[in-house]
Amino acid sequence: MAKEAGLDGSGDSSGLMIESVVDPLLLAALAGTKLAVMFCLYSIEGWRWSEEHQVPAKEEMQLLYRKDPEAWILEVLRLCAPVAGTHKVLPESTRLPFLRGSRDFPAGTIVTASIPDAHVDPSAFEDPMAFRPGRCPKDRYLIWNGPFGGAAPRHCPGESIALKLCEVFTTAYLDRQVDSQA
Ligand code: HEM
Repeated sequence: MAKEAGLDGSGDSSGLMIESVVDPLLLAALAGTKLAVMFCLYSIEGWRWSEEHQVPAKEEMQLLYRKDPEAWILEVLRLCAPVAGTHKVLPESTRLPFLRGSRDFPAGTIVTASIPDAHVDPSAFEDPMAFRPGRCPKDRYLIWNGPFGGAAPRHCPGESIALKLCEVFTTAYLDRQVDSQA
């Protein structure tokens, strides 16, 4: 509330500061998780997000999900990353990969690395456009700002919550289909 946030001239801006942290956090968590769940639900219907993706037909997708939900969700989110970038403010001048070469960036530059591009790097994922759950060690997936299941600097703290929500929604969706066909 504006009044509690010190906009009433009381000088106490702690409420405003808390809101400025909590609101973006909840928005990021909601937006990322909502996209992830949406990608899972479309994918379980055999939807293909791009002409380049080689995704199995719906029946095969559903069998693959039942076999290993976690591996399936990681593979969906590899091909459709819900959060596309990871950001950092350089503390000092740094040489970084850029386009097909590298260059020096001054301290204070905001740099963004593309997670979707990393996820289709053929040196990390053989035949990257193919949908193959369990294709490689899980820590090669960078969906949550670092190797899956790890503790990279600024690793997304919502990783396990978001993954669980994808599983709950996708399983419920599939179970409901089975019920309605019975
Ligand atoms: C599928 C859903 C989600 C994905 C793909 C995701 C991914 C990411 C990524 C890539 C970053 C780094 C962004 C950057 O460098 O700018 C990040 C940061 C963060 N995420 Fe998530 N996230 C998801 C859900 C959540 C949830 C559910 C929460 C909270 C419950 C959450 C809380 C955060 C926070 C607090 C940060 C900032 C960490 C820091 O800078 O120290 N995220 N997330």
